[in-house]
Amino acid sequence: MPFRIGSLELGSNLFLSPLAGYTNLPFRLIIREIGGVGLCTTDLVNARSLLEKNRKALKLIESSPVDRPLSVQLFGAVPEEMRDAALFLEAQGVASVDINMGCPVRKVCKVGGGSAMMTEHDKTSRLVKMMVDALKIPVTCKMRLGWDDANITAPNLARVLEDVGVAAISVHGRTREQGFSGRVNLEGIHSVVKAVKHIPVIGNGDITTPEAAKMMFDQTGCSAISVGRGAFYNPWIFRHIARFLATGETPPEPDFEERVGVMSRHLGMMVEVFGEELGCRMFRKVAPWYSKRFGPAAEFNRRVVILHTRAEFDDIVNSYRTWRQQFLDDTQKLRPQYAPRDMQPSFMSAEEPEAVRRTSIPVPKGPNELW
Ligand SMILES: Cc1cc2nc3c(=O)[nH]c(=O)nc-3n(C[C@H](O)[C@H](O)[C@H](O)COP(=O)(O)O)c2cc1C
Repeated sequence: MPFRIGSLELGSNLFLSPLAGYTNLPFRLIIREIGGVGLCTTDLVNARSLLEKNRKALKLIESSPVDRPLSVQLFGAVPEEMRDAALFLEAQGVASVDINMGCPVRKVCKVGGGSAMMTEHDKTSRLVKMMVDALKIPVTCKMRLGWDDANITAPNLARVLEDVGVAAISVHGRTREQGFSGRVNLEGIHSVVKAVKHIPVIGNGDITTPEAAKMMFDQTGCSAISVGRGAFYNPWIFRHIARFLATGETPPEPDFEERVGVMSRHLGMMVEVFGEELGCRMFRKVAPWYSKRFGPAAEFNRRVVILHTRAEFDDIVNSYRTWRQQFLDDTQKLRPQYAPRDMQPSFMSAEEPEAVRRTSIPVPKGPNELW
């Protein structure tokens, strides 16, 4: 469904959420190629590092002509730095700038960025206003529901931000204190939807199936959704959600060879963007997400987590293909008892979306565990 964020016209209201360490250029390109996504966002980028033209910060905003429309997420607490970094991004052709107000990581909060921004509304609105006034492209904000259950500040903050000209608000329906525990609080997101006057609210959290996406829209009244871990787990998710919302049908899961094809292309792009050595090293944590839906995959995972070269990857896939034969029936389909649990029909049923959401998406390991 076409959708607007301020002056920005988008092809769909299904967005990719920022996942630091994961939502890099190759991953965004894969998601875009598969289709259904309306806007992709980068990992969060430190505004000051960007102004200093720090090599790592510039790598985080690396893009390409097909990586459009692109939103870059900034974090920082110094208004002039945030404004100038956003102006730099605007000049680079970025479609919108997102401000991180949800990051619970100590290093970010200590300097007044991330979720600390949710606790000081006056200061935050001054910073945001300075950005909005300087930019032509839309400014959006991404927040959690609040610091903790006693401080659900998102509705008030959203209203304040709308008044200073923010074009959309994304809300992850958990508090900072909650981390990733418990379930996403749809009622909390609904209270943000009620609090704003006109701007779109983007509902976020635990969307891992088309049914969960529909539930997010229906129960919160949000006008767009964003998917983080669910997209990493299943890059087909946007296409599937779009189809489900339009027709009520859940499209068939891609088969093994299609998954392998996309995974292999993903690695190819990683190598192009990061070079063979680093690209392969980074892919060690990506490939096991694809293999979660291969059926028995121990033999594949054992080797791919120590991947060094592209040629080695092709060899791993070929020998795994042979090893996997033992689990297939005469028609080359995985025998039902070996199908991944969340792909078995009863597990995917509409009556059980909570079970799907609880069990299927772990928080990716790494320095970002606290998100
Ligand atoms: C590994 C990881 C990295 C994340 N990085 C960011 C980030 O850079 N900026 C941000 O606003 N949120 C970040 N998040 C939060 C996600 O964007 C999203 O709000 C959260 O994961 C809930 O959505 P999901 O259940 O669809 O994943 C991160 C989450 C994870 C698990």
